[in-house]
Amino acid sequence: MIYLDNAATTLQKPPEVAAAVYRAVNTCATPGRGSHAAAMRAAETVYSCREEAAALFHVPAPEQVAFTMNATHGLNIAIHSLVTPGGRVVVSGYEHNAVMRPLYALGARVDVAASPLFQPHAALEAFRARIPGAQAVICTHASNVYGFILPIKEIAALCRQEGVPLIVDAAQSAGVLDLDFAALGAAFIAMPGHKGLLGPQGTGLLLCREGAEPILFGGTGSMSASRAMPDFLPDRLEAGTVNVYGIAGLEQGLRYLRRTGLRSVREREGDGMAHLAAGLRPLPGLRLLEGPPGTQTGVLSVVTETMNCEEAAEALGGAGVAVRAGLHCAPLAHETGGTLDTGTVRLSLGPFNTEGEMRRVCGVFENILKNGYKL
Ligand code: ALA
Repeated sequence: MIYLDNAATTLQKPPEVAAAVYRAVNTCATPGRGSHAAAMRAAETVYSCREEAAALFHVPAPEQVAFTMNATHGLNIAIHSLVTPGGRVVVSGYEHNAVMRPLYALGARVDVAASPLFQPHAALEAFRARIPGAQAVICTHASNVYGFILPIKEIAALCRQEGVPLIVDAAQSAGVLDLDFAALGAAFIAMPGHKGLLGPQGTGLLLCREGAEPILFGGTGSMSASRAMPDFLPDRLEAGTVNVYGIAGLEQGLRYLRRTGLRSVREREGDGMAHLAAGLRPLPGLRLLEGPPGTQTGVLSVVTETMNCEEAAEALGGAGVAVRAGLHCAPLAHETGGTLDTGTVRLSLGPFNTEGEMRRVCGVFENILKNGYKL
């Protein structure tokens, strides 16, 4: 199989990730709940992963890194911490349901800074007009549908200038684009562990400044006599036993990325994208949603003009190419990008895809477009 669904989850991980999970399953007990060797080993594993994450994302203290189940979990905590019913929240036109549904559920006033696809300057101007007086700003760093990279540094600077807290959804950028928590001055950055960070599913990170409010209440192994959750991080956000096995794997994903460097990941995905786009561009019946250099990650959405996108994805799957089609849980992004009616077929690259795979995918796509669904 040629795996091009890395925006959903990375399937190919460095082998040390699975090895660490296996080791942890066999050696780790509950962290922070005992002083015996197996509990201490778990605590060390968890702390060491926090340190790795803090180093990769320039977080001043490892305690400001909270473990979550996924990016959605982290975004829910961040939104719950900053947004009140009726509060005006500015979001980009490319947000995922992980942002939009919690905002709708809370009854926030959602102010969409809509801007055309692959135009970072227009995105910035849309934010500039709306940020003053907002309760919070939420922005995805890179669109999960189109790979469009939002100008997050500039948006963060506007937020700092206006004193408006910023939540960054780094679901598609963590492990690919540089993210400096300290320099951005964001209130929260949420990310999954299982995508670009190459860890197991069921892991996520929430980088926190201050004012984090829990959405889960329970035991933390600290201040057990208190009726309230501890007022310090990360305990305030980590009720119940964390996913130690997953975290052990995530630590290895983070170590791999620090060792290899994000630049190398970007170069590999960028080369793959260039080959893929060059091969798909001439195919009749296919419209590629491509941006100018520097505006797109390794995520390419295409509109199949002569067939339904779900059918095209099914045919690709049948021919051994794994992609995702439809609205990708991000109807707002499709509305902004003009693909709400058709959906798209999304081909998303990871650091382990090869040039040869890209050539084969283009050949398969060409056959499907020529011969139809029943290839
Ligand atoms: N949000 C993930 C995606 O874009 C699952 O596929």
